[in-house]
Amino acid sequence: MEISSILQGGYHHPLSRSWQGRRQLTKSMFMYPIFITDDPNASVEIPSLPGQRRWGVNRLQEFLGPLVQKGLTSVILFGVPLKCEKDSRGTPADDPSGPVIQAIKRLRTLYPSLYIACDVCLCEYTSHGHCGFLHQDGTINTEPSVERLAEVALNYALAGAHCVAPSDMMDGRIKAIKRKLIEAGLGNRCTLMSYSAKFASSLYGPFRDAAGSAPAFGDRKCYQLPPPAKGLAKRAILRDATEGADIIMVKPALPYLDVIADAAELIPNHPIACYQVSGEFAMIHAGAKAGVYELKTMAFEAAESMVRAGAGIILSYFTPEFLEWLSA
Ligand code: PBG
Ligand code: ZN
Repeated sequence: MEISSILQGGYHHPLSRSWQGRRQLTKSMFMYPIFITDDPNASVEIPSLPGQRRWGVNRLQEFLGPLVQKGLTSVILFGVPLKCEKDSRGTPADDPSGPVIQAIKRLRTLYPSLYIACDVCLCEYTSHGHCGFLHQDGTINTEPSVERLAEVALNYALAGAHCVAPSDMMDGRIKAIKRKLIEAGLGNRCTLMSYSAKFASSLYGPFRDAAGSAPAFGDRKCYQLPPPAKGLAKRAILRDATEGADIIMVKPALPYLDVIADAAELIPNHPIACYQVSGEFAMIHAGAKAGVYELKTMAFEAAESMVRAGAGIILSYFTPEFLEWLSA
């Protein structure tokens, strides 16, 4: 046998196995997506997302306190307005008394070292449930959409968000948001994380349920990328990097590992994030429940594949579990 054919010596021990990844999973890679609703005392289970709840601002301490203790370093906030009036402008998105802005302020006070990202989109707040404004004929009206998204992003940043993350997929919003942040003197105090390669996926169902953001009519195929679109994804990643994004995200994660790898190659000087979306989380739970695999083993395999592909940040509903698992 050739000397070089003997590989197993390199991974016979748990420690030497852990050295085989270029990068190892750490707690700070995980960003936890949380749903904040406009009933300040809410703690309501989300049936389609095992273990996840919609929280009111008054309950954030009981929810996040134990996680911060275990090493939670970042969250991404999603507003779920249930009581307020949705309109064509998405007015409630940046209502100063609305759930997102209230939650930013509360979290900044409660946990000064917790990194707070905010999803920026209009679909949770518009009457039609689309991520931008529409023309009469239902097509996207890009310019005013981008302007409104930039306004919302700025208001989150002014309220104290460390990071704004537009998920709408309108063309030109990264440049518009970056400009607005710079003009307001926040260019050096707020990270811009772009959902750059966001695909029109079947894996967003539980989220739309949780956030009440399903479109009232039509679908999102004219602004989210078609699943086979490797080329468009690369163009979007390069464009957003050029427009001033500080972090590039790929979403969903597991079916798009090649796109994560493309991003890592195309823009080696940016951090790459990926979003293990609601349907991926639900799928891993469902498979474990059906006896296909053990939950923890599968959750690790999925997360490790994302890091192997090139991601350094993972948005995941498994974050609380990983804080436990990575402590052991
Ligand atoms: C809305 C938004 C979605 C997700 C994040 N932001 C849903 C969508 O685009 O329809 C999905 C997250 C998940 O499924 O966990 N702009
Ligand atoms: Zn949206």
